[in-house]
Amino acid sequence: MSEDRKPFTIGLVGLGTVGVGVIKMLEQNADIIAQRSGRSIQIKAVSASNKSKDRGVNLSPYEWVDDGRDMAAIDDLDCIVEMVGGSEGFAKELVEKVLQSGKHVVTANKALLAEHGLKLAQIAEENNVCLMYEAAVAGGIPIIKNLREGLAGNQIDHVYGILNGTCNYILTEMRETGRNFADVLQEAQEKGYAEADPTFDVDGIDAAHKLVLLGALAFGVEPDFKNLQIEGIRNITAEDIKYADELGYRIKLLGVAHRQGENFIQTMAPCLVSKKSAIGNVEGVFNAVLIHGDFVDQTMMEGRGAGEGPTASSVVADLIDLAKGVNTPVFNVPVGTLKKAQWQGPETLEAKCYIHLHTKDDAGVLADVTTCLKDHGLSIKSVIQRGHDGAQTASIVILTHRASFMDAQNCVQSLKDKSFILQEPLLLRVEDI
Ligand code: HSE
Repeated sequence: MSEDRKPFTIGLVGLGTVGVGVIKMLEQNADIIAQRSGRSIQIKAVSASNKSKDRGVNLSPYEWVDDGRDMAAIDDLDCIVEMVGGSEGFAKELVEKVLQSGKHVVTANKALLAEHGLKLAQIAEENNVCLMYEAAVAGGIPIIKNLREGLAGNQIDHVYGILNGTCNYILTEMRETGRNFADVLQEAQEKGYAEADPTFDVDGIDAAHKLVLLGALAFGVEPDFKNLQIEGIRNITAEDIKYADELGYRIKLLGVAHRQGENFIQTMAPCLVSKKSAIGNVEGVFNAVLIHGDFVDQTMMEGRGAGEGPTASSVVADLIDLAKGVNTPVFNVPVGTLKKAQWQGPETLEAKCYIHLHTKDDAGVLADVTTCLKDHGLSIKSVIQRGHDGAQTASIVILTHRASFMDAQNCVQSLKDKSFILQEPLLLRVEDI
C-alpha cells in the first residue's frame, strides 16, 4: 500500500442491515482493503432516520448528519453510499444531489437504477463521477463487474437469472415439504426471511428491477423497466411443483433477457428448468446468473442474493474500485451510445409449454382439450391426468413440444371458455438451459 495517498473518504446514508455490514467489513478487513485500494477507505459521516437506535456498531468516530442529502455539501467526502432504497423521493433526491456535487455514489438500490438509471447515468457523466451498483443485483455475486469486465469481449446473447432469494426460498420449501404458497410465505415472514409486505418479492418486481440492469449491461441498451412483462409466483401451487418434478423439471422465478439479432426480449416469470441443470439446482435463498456469450459459451455464478455480509461485500468492492481510481460509465458505455431497444415480450418466444388444467372429470374432456391443442398447432410431448376420486374433477397437465408461446397463450385462452374448466389454467414456459 502506498502510505502517501490520501484516504478515500465516504459518507454512509442508511444504517440498516447493509449499512451495518459495510461498517463491519471496512473495520474488520481494513488492512487488505487498504492494500488492494492503494489507500485506506475511511468512513467520515453517517446518516439514518433514527440517531439513537442501537445497531451493534460504534458510530461515535463518525460525524452524524441528520439529513443524508446534506452530505452532498460536505467537501471532503469522495463518495456517498446510498442504502436507503426506493425508486422515488429521498433516495432519488440524494443520489441526484450527490452526483451533481461531483461526488461518486455507490448504491444497492435496484429500483432507483431500473426506473431512473438512464437519467442518473447522464447526471453522473455530466459531472464526471461514477454511480456504482454491484450490490443492487444478486447481492454478493459480482455479476456487474463480470459483465463490465470479465465478459467484455463477448457478444452476449442470453442472460438468465434467479434474482430473488425470497421467491427461490419459497419455491424450494414448497417442493421439499409439499406445503402451499401461503403457508410457506407466512413462515418465511415469521422467520424474517420475507418482508411484512412481500409484494415486491413475490410479484417479481424486485427481480425484474435487477433483470433490467443486467439486460442493459449485457446488450448495451437503455434500461427499460416499462417494457418488461412481470409475473410473480403467487399462482404456483405445490401440485404444480410436483407435476413439474414428475416431468423432470423445477419451477423457478426466472428472469430472461435474449438478444435475437436486433431484437431484444426480456421477461420475468416462473419457468420450468431441467432438474439436472445447474440453474435448476440453485435452491433456497441463493441467486444465480447464467450468461451465454459468443466466445465464452455459458458461465454461471451462484451465491447469496441478500443479507448483511454478501451485500456489504459488493458495496465494498465498488468502494475499492473507486478508491483505486476506476472510472466506468454507469452502463459500461457512454449514455449516448446505448441503443434504444424495442423490447419484446414472452409471446415472441418459442418454448416447450407446461399447461395445467383443472377440469370436470367427464367423458370427452381430454379429447376436447387435445383437439384445442391441435387447432392451435400445439403438439403434445407428455400428458398426465389425475382424477380426484369422489370430486369428479381432474387435473390435466400437458407438456407440449417446442411451440410458439403465443399459440400456447391463445390455446389456453380458448380453453378458459370451455364449460369443463373449473379454475384459471396455468401456462408456463420451459427454458432449456
Ligand atoms: N428481497 C430480495 C430477495 C433481496 O429476497 O432476494 C433484495 O433485493
